[in-house]
Amino acid sequence: MRDVCISKGIYYMGVNDRRKHLFENNWPLPFGVSYNSYLIKDEKSVLIDTIEYGSNDNFLNHIERILAGAPLDYLVVNHMEPDHSSMIECVTRRFPNVKLIGNAQTAKILKLYFNLPDESIMIVKDGETISLGEHTLSFHLIPWVHWPETMVTYEQTTQTLFSCDAFGGFGTLDGSIFDDENDFEGHYKSEMLRYYSNIVGKYSGMVQKAFDKLSGVPIKTICPSHGLVWRGNPGRVLELYSKWCNWESEKGVVLVYASMYGNTEQMADFIGRILGEKGIPVRTYDVSKTHVSYILSDIWKYKGLILGTCAYNAQMHPMMEHLCNEIKLIAPKNKTLSIFGSSTWNGAGVKALVKYAPEMGMEVSGTPLEIMGSATYDKLAQSAEAFVDEFVKSL
Ligand code: FEO
Repeated sequence: MRDVCISKGIYYMGVNDRRKHLFENNWPLPFGVSYNSYLIKDEKSVLIDTIEYGSNDNFLNHIERILAGAPLDYLVVNHMEPDHSSMIECVTRRFPNVKLIGNAQTAKILKLYFNLPDESIMIVKDGETISLGEHTLSFHLIPWVHWPETMVTYEQTTQTLFSCDAFGGFGTLDGSIFDDENDFEGHYKSEMLRYYSNIVGKYSGMVQKAFDKLSGVPIKTICPSHGLVWRGNPGRVLELYSKWCNWESEKGVVLVYASMYGNTEQMADFIGRILGEKGIPVRTYDVSKTHVSYILSDIWKYKGLILGTCAYNAQMHPMMEHLCNEIKLIAPKNKTLSIFGSSTWNGAGVKALVKYAPEMGMEVSGTPLEIMGSATYDKLAQSAEAFVDEFVKSL
């Protein structure tokens, strides 16, 4: 890896992981992920966060090369999730005099993961500063973005925010490390929203609090722990996060169905076409085919949500139940929800979906559309338009 200088004395030390299939063993990584770490070289040298253990063998050598014989004085631990912290023990072995900097919560979690002596940990309070020489760091707690101990670190001279998971995204940094080198709108934006909805979205209320806390802080560069470093237009990522954490959505509908023998699928396509005729963008997913990660991302993006299921063991289809559980966990707000489905004798799937809606924090808009037996053209022609009309009124 070539050395990447962000500004005087501040270096990008991140690595790409293209091998891992599932982030947190749950979320697909078709374009990989980066674990970003940063080094500030000054009278006192500081490493900010580490990388996931095993993702890159050269990380420690890279630190040594940049330090060029100088000691590593501090390791700032913004976040203890192992994708950023699992190299801590390796760093302390290679640089035995390094002092770990974290808040009181960080210290507790550090002891759960590593056998570290008390004197190796320096506990900082919210807003506390330390001088490194030319650079000055301040520490700001942003609990639950994304764990309870999470904090960000701000370098005052260069107005650089080391934001940890906030403002991160899926996707490796393929040559372009900075936003001004990257085709952000073409590729990273959708991976960033998928990351936001899958990982951070549940904590949107806490993201809003973090925004309030950092309002008025001048920020020239944002250095997150995953994805692009924002030096060209940091306002762009702030604008996107502000929109996402306030559940602002775009015109459009996510139409998701679970179908065993094609009747619920027929309904989905019929409904989708009526929406299309009305000029409303639709993304249709078979929940048994597409990983929920992508569906959740589009649910976060669009205002409308239509869920359809067949009946299955007197319940909704299990794959639809999985999606509903994930929606409940990430808790998107300000959605318009309608429900449809097919059944042969008891309408159990639609009933189960209607019953589940409050658990997802949503109300069902209009009357659910249900078809018994085959979803024929005649049955759909008689019922689907009224269903869509009712939904669109609430959209
Ligand atoms: Fe990227 Fe919450 O760790």
